[in-house]
Formats: sequence, structure tokens, C-alpha cells
Amino acid sequence: MDGNGRWAKKRGLPRALGHQRGVEAVRKLVRATEPMGIDCLTLYAFSSENWKRPEDEVDHLMGLLRKFIKTDLEEFIANDVKLKIIGDYKAFAPDIVEMIEDALEKTSDGSRILAVALNYGAQQEIVRAATLAAEQGEISESALERHLYTSDMPPLDLLIRTSGEVRLSNFLLWQCAYAEMSFVDVLWPDFTPAHLQNALDDFAKRERRYGGR
Ligand code: FPP
Repeated sequence: MDGNGRWAKKRGLPRALGHQRGVEAVRKLVRATEPMGIDCLTLYAFSSENWKRPEDEVDHLMGLLRKFIKTDLEEFIANDVKLKIIGDYKAFAPDIVEMIEDALEKTSDGSRILAVALNYGAQQEIVRAATLAAEQGEISESALERHLYTSDMPPLDLLIRTSGEVRLSNFLLWQCAYAEMSFVDVLWPDFTPAHLQNALDDFAKRERRYGGR
């Protein structure tokens, strides 16, 4: 969800406001997934590298996360959304861990997955999966996949990166092996369900060969 900072800077506003508008974009997008037929949406909210940001920005992001869970939980439950976290969220403050675990439990019967990547890094995920697989004495593609955070999620079809950046930034590296990519030159707070629909329409035209012909 790239571009919150630039969105705010362009308007002479504090970065915090960009993140705030970013959360509003999240809310609108999550609401749009059901009519669009999307069964699983994953959002990169906080990377394992984002700790390097100034403390006040990290604190603000944590505050937004708390508010998001508190405000949106009932709507998730009512709309059949199953919350999932990918990443080591247990490194967060104890009250956030508690809120997350409560939300995971309360949405566990949902059928449409909203996965939020928190303290997530794909290289760390792969090392963790390889370690767990090795402990069980099997190193293979399927064994590793069983230990990825995404093991109970459908295969990744489409990855969208906003804000004009053209790199993966340690996101879902394993899962991207055969995913389609869409790089959109729109800052995250301006990213609407219409932009998502455009990306889906473009995705529908692609021919996926998975290395075959
Ligand atoms: C990247 O923009 C955005 C982030 C590092 C944070 C994304 C987080 C949110 C939208 C809020 C929390 C999420 C939830 C689900 C409650 P940037 O700051 O790197 O912007 P820039 O590239 O323009 O500097």
C-alpha cells in the first residue's frame, strides 16, 4: 500500500494524514471485494523493515491498526470476512497482540479472507518455513509451502503494487513464482475499487502458462 507519504507531501499535509487516508482506502476496498467476487485479499500494512522508520511514525501506524480493528471488526463479522495475519505480529505491543487474537477468533467462521501482512518479510518467511520443514525432516517445495504463513490461502493470482514503484520489496516472494503482476501509478490513498477492477479486467486477458506452452 505504497504512496501514503507522497500523497500527503503533495498536499503539504503531515505523513500521518496520508496513512489515515490510506486506511480509508483499505476500508472501501475491503467492502468492494464481495461484489467483485474476490475470495482472498492480502494487504501489506507493515513490513519487518518498517521498524526503521522514525518512532513517531511507527507509533502512529500502530495507533491506526488498533483503531482499524476496533472500528471494523463488527463489519467483518457481519460480512463473512475471515481476518488472517501473515507475519510475526507477536512482536507488537501486548494489547495489539490481544486485539488481533480476539479478532482472529471472532472472524474465524468467515469465508472470505482478508489477510493483513504485519511485521512481515518474505525472506524471513522462507527461512522460517525451511527451518520448520527441516525440523520435520523434509525439505521439498510442498513441505516448505506447508510452513508458509499463506499455507491455508489460495495460490496468489495477482499482485498489485501502487505508487509507480516497480519492485517487490520483500513481499510474498515465494508465492509470486507464477503470480501476475500489476504496477499501478496511483498513490495508495487514491487507489479505489475502480482501479482494482481495472487490474482484474487486465488480469482476465492474460494467458497463464506456468512454464508450459
Ligand atoms: C507505505 O506508504 C505505507 C505504509 C508503510 C503503511 C501502510 C499502512 C496503512 C495504510 C495503515 C495501517 C493498515 C491497516 C490495515 C490498518 P509510504 O509511507 O511508504 O509512502 P511513500 O512511499 O509515499 O513514502
